[in-house]
Amino acid sequence: MSRLVVVSNRVAPITEGEPTAGGLAAGVMDALRHSGGLWFGWSGQTVPDTLVPPDTLAPGLPPAVARSGPVTLYTTDLTQRDYDDYYRGFANGTLWPVLHYQTGLARFEHGEFEGYRRVNAHFARHLAALVAPDDVIWAHDYHLLCLAESLRAAGLRNRMGLFLHTPFPAPAVLTTVPVHAELVRALCQYDLVGFQTEGDRRAFADYIRHELGGEELPGGVLLAHGRRIRTGVYPIGVQVEALRAEAQAGEPESLAALRAGLGDRALIISVERLDYSKGLRQRFAAYERFLASHAAWHRRVEYVQIAPPSRSDVEAYQAIRRELEGEAGRINGRFAELDWMPLRYLNRGFPRRRLMPLYAAARVGLVTPLRDGMNLVAKEYVAAQDPQDPGVLVLSRFAGAARELDAALLVNPHDEAAVAAALDRALAMPLEERQERHTAMLRVMRRNSLERWRDRFEADLRDLESAAGAA
Ligand code: G6P
Repeated sequence: MSRLVVVSNRVAPITEGEPTAGGLAAGVMDALRHSGGLWFGWSGQTVPDTLVPPDTLAPGLPPAVARSGPVTLYTTDLTQRDYDDYYRGFANGTLWPVLHYQTGLARFEHGEFEGYRRVNAHFARHLAALVAPDDVIWAHDYHLLCLAESLRAAGLRNRMGLFLHTPFPAPAVLTTVPVHAELVRALCQYDLVGFQTEGDRRAFADYIRHELGGEELPGGVLLAHGRRIRTGVYPIGVQVEALRAEAQAGEPESLAALRAGLGDRALIISVERLDYSKGLRQRFAAYERFLASHAAWHRRVEYVQIAPPSRSDVEAYQAIRRELEGEAGRINGRFAELDWMPLRYLNRGFPRRRLMPLYAAARVGLVTPLRDGMNLVAKEYVAAQDPQDPGVLVLSRFAGAARELDAALLVNPHDEAAVAAALDRALAMPLEERQERHTAMLRVMRRNSLERWRDRFEADLRDLESAAGAA
């Protein structure tokens, strides 16, 4: 069988036990460990511009190679200028906020978009030297929307697919990006484009039909820019049994530390990168509202928020960090007692094997992003629970995961009073109802597992005729 070549901006840390950077890297690594293959991406390192002769695409160095079981990882450095334009600029200063419907936080500079294209071309140049003609290429996420276009320009006719881990916004939102037409034209060079939910796929198809005058055929096939693009919905999942085992294996010292601090208080847990799309500000406000209106829970509950800083050189991320530090202090100042801190706010990451026992110990998993492609923390929390005595997931209706996990307590994260009421309901929920909800969620998660996500996307990609995209 032909080789699978995976491309993403960030590749997973090879060392076991490092904090995971986000759902993508962990999910792809789990998936690749199974089939083996090649994974190409950024090393996470930058080199000064002065090391690179002007007008070359990138450091002329060959990519670094490492092996992790059946996976060969190739990583390349970025110059400081590439990093600024591509990663900090267009990918995370423009695309990320727009994809998450936060158009007010998006900035746009033509030069940064050029940098984004330059880095996509730089990845393509390295890949062109690595891939064989019958390899299938699976690119991931919003950093690489222009990769297939660059690979095609280099003469590659391989089957190419992109899976978008983030939401795909409605056309009225996407068109706020001045180069939306260039982006979608580039996307049309893929043979297969996969989305987390039908809503995301629908938004892409609507753009193709209404903005481009393209056609939609049955079976998710789109005709645009003289090409035939297959689209599909592939909700990313988790390895349910392995996560439950990790939750039970827990390091005794960390659990003892947690218990010592917590006593017999009920734990509410939230874990995510410190990102404005995650709804932390609204969540803090909802928790404050909960404390103000439910005095009976005082001293009986504790909310632990784990939020490792992320993309800290993008202005919007600095702003949210400053704001939350102030809010955490203010809420504790208002409600804390000598022997009770209602909120513990930790700005640091933990490896998954340490998080899983925390999830298992938490009475409530509070996952309330304003928008999220999927949100794997929601699924990890459910997987970690003891089926005999499970905790309750309070989940934003705007997370992709809400499509599958509709047995969670679904909330609108903008509605503080509703989130506060959901917390009260979750904490007081009788065992039988908790079990019913948990069983229903596990059933869906076992069906839509990580393996199924990988197998379905890979099978659909392999099914395409070589260079089938040419209409
Ligand atoms: C999200 C994105 C990923 C990204 C991760 C971490 O999950 O979908 O593509 O890798 O966040 O963000 P970072 O900017 O640190 O790679």
